[in-house]
Amino acid sequence: MTVRPSAGVRRRDTELALIADAAKRIYGSDGREVLLVSGEAGLGKTTLVAEAARSAYDAGACVLFGHCEEDLATPYQLFAEALGHYVAHTEEEQLRELVEAHGSEWMRLVPALASRIPDLPPSKATDSDSERYLLFAAAVGLLGSISQQQPVVLVLDDLQWADNASLLLLRHLVAAEHPVRLLVLGTFRDSELAQSPGLRETLGLLRRHRGFTRLELEASTRTACSPSWRPRPAMH
Ligand SMILES: Nc1ncnc2c1ncn2[C@@H]1O[C@H](COP(=O)(O)OP(=O)(O)OP(=O)(O)O)[C@@H](O)[C@H]1O
Ligand SMILES: [Mg+2]
Repeated sequence: MTVRPSAGVRRRDTELALIADAAKRIYGSDGREVLLVSGEAGLGKTTLVAEAARSAYDAGACVLFGHCEEDLATPYQLFAEALGHYVAHTEEEQLRELVEAHGSEWMRLVPALASRIPDLPPSKATDSDSERYLLFAAAVGLLGSISQQQPVVLVLDDLQWADNASLLLLRHLVAAEHPVRLLVLGTFRDSELAQSPGLRETLGLLRRHRGFTRLELEASTRTACSPSWRPRPAMH
């Protein structure tokens, strides 16, 4: 049976293939990939990464999803949401193993961890600097441990509204030495970059990462049937 896409649905095969390639690169190795989809509001960025994430999930990846909202940023919001789902849906035994390996500092990201594991060890932080250091180390170690079982796809939607703490943790995660099989699949509205200094700075750093890809959706793709149209993946 041939299933044809509904009228008005723009096929994103080329973009999906590009994302699938990035996902494949993390499956077998400790590869760390960052693929950011940018474009104007309403071009289909979220739809595209959601479809790619669904395929990665079907292929066995652990998909974690965090999103940002305008004027509603709280510190570490992206990671709190992404890891919150993980904590809510993971067996207690596995959570206990993660706490044993990486301490309880990441409870700062996911307060619900305390209700899943009531006898959590106390934080080892002595001041705010050590708290952040331990939190970042725990988050990296945690994703590394999860990725030993399944490669991790971390979807971060609407990064133009991300809080600075989340962006700092993202930068740390991408730069850290710790082995992790991770694809960060982010979206942002490039028209709002001028108002997002934190994201601009983060992009400048992420671009230096070997596994960085930027996929720009263009406004012309909004209208259907441009046979000469090709997506413009910008590799950095
Ligand atoms: N490939 C597609 N073909 C047709 N319609 C699409 C396609 N992708 C998304 N849409 C539709 O376009 C609208 C906007 O999609 P989406 O929310 O994914 O855009 P976005 O780029 O993430 O927007 P925003 O910048 O506001 O977050 C939705 O109604 C969605 O159903
Ligand atoms: Mg969106």
